[in-house]
Amino acid sequence: MSDRRTVAPNDLSAFWMPFTANRQFKKAPRMFVGAKDMHYTTSDGRTVLDGTAGLWCVNAGHCRPRIVEAIATQAAEMDYAPAFQMGHPKAFELANAIVGLAPEGLNHVLYTNSGSESVETALKVALAYHRVKGDGSRFRLIGRERGYHGVNFGGISVGGIVTNRKMFGTLLTGVDHMPHTHNIGKNAFTRGEPEHGADLATELERIVTLHDPSTIAAVIVEPVAGSTGVLIPPKGYLKKLREITKKHGILLIFDEVITGFGRIGTPFAADYFDVTPDMIVCAKGLTNGTIPMGAVIVTSDIHDAFMQGPEHMIEFFHGYTYSGNPVASAAGLATLETYKEEGLLTRGAELAQYWEDALHSLKGLPHVIDIRNLGLIGAIELDPIAGAPTKRAFSAFLKAYESGLLIRTTGDIIALSPPLIIEKHHIDELFGKLATILKTLE
Ligand SMILES: Cc1ncc(COP(=O)(O)O)c(C=O)c1O
Repeated sequence: MSDRRTVAPNDLSAFWMPFTANRQFKKAPRMFVGAKDMHYTTSDGRTVLDGTAGLWCVNAGHCRPRIVEAIATQAAEMDYAPAFQMGHPKAFELANAIVGLAPEGLNHVLYTNSGSESVETALKVALAYHRVKGDGSRFRLIGRERGYHGVNFGGISVGGIVTNRKMFGTLLTGVDHMPHTHNIGKNAFTRGEPEHGADLATELERIVTLHDPSTIAAVIVEPVAGSTGVLIPPKGYLKKLREITKKHGILLIFDEVITGFGRIGTPFAADYFDVTPDMIVCAKGLTNGTIPMGAVIVTSDIHDAFMQGPEHMIEFFHGYTYSGNPVASAAGLATLETYKEEGLLTRGAELAQYWEDALHSLKGLPHVIDIRNLGLIGAIELDPIAGAPTKRAFSAFLKAYESGLLIRTTGDIIALSPPLIIEKHHIDELFGKLATILKTLE
């Protein structure tokens, strides 16, 4: 047995970090020790502008007083209540508040602890829904190439990012994928929704015909794909997906883990695109990133289908120890109040044009092969270094951090998604720094 006393408290080796180049990090650690509003503070005392709202989650900015206080008060008042067969008021209050923000018809909430768990929950609801309706032959799930739906088995099965899938065996069976919509050849440097590609939605018809509609339970997509490098849906594409799924009795699930809670200038992307899915998957912005919590919002039709049989019986055999956790619920309520008080769920729409102009001013800088945006999301795609994919963007990430700016990279794409409290002078600073960095990249 190893002698634990020999491990120094600041030894970095025990923590196997998620989605991180562990060896590179531990040679030159990047540590945040404080945060306030638009900024982080590093362990060496520097201030870093948050260009990514943490990981697309801190929509109201950091350490907001109302949220901090709600968490502290709830932790002192009642830390935990059993999630199964018992309730506590804040979980119900928060569900009502979420439903109040969601598109018309989405009236019931299942709680989870993350985006990944929300995805698993939604997929299970879809399969079980058809079964309780006497349509159990609908077992297939359709995702999309380049889709990111978290890291659990259902999510990576319907997801379409090869690196996240290839190590993990056969995954779920009965899954198929639509093509992704990214087309630099035709849509490079588009501002907002691209013109070309709506017809790719008809690929769903092909898949439906191949398998027969009677075997398909649900289609899941991110309305705007985030983690794969920001893919904005072509004009009309999501409406077509809705038409096709409706026609064939297939449930449509929007994974709004990134787009939920104001990211593109409306409460949900469903509002922006005027397309109402049967379920919305969310997390991240629900608690402003403070306490892990996710949710799946479903229609009354789905919910009511389960409410049958003897009343003493559990209707849906699914849930987590921390579903609707009191501290997370308190954080969620305070977060939604903060969004409302400050108009943050629509603030992205007011700033979108300024953001877009600043972002697209980087066109023409070395290695930049595409720029795309919607609401307060932006992406800059770089030409990869031959034989060393991801290296150029990672180098931009490191240089940005050194210059006091947090960006996110995926492949050779720089993704930006600042807190929704961002001001114009922050936008100027962000793109000013990025322009300098891009000019110095090898
Ligand atoms: C669209 C989407 N779905 C699911 C997830 C997974 O969320 P989590 O990391 O909270 O499990 C993410 C995370 O970035 C996401 O972007």
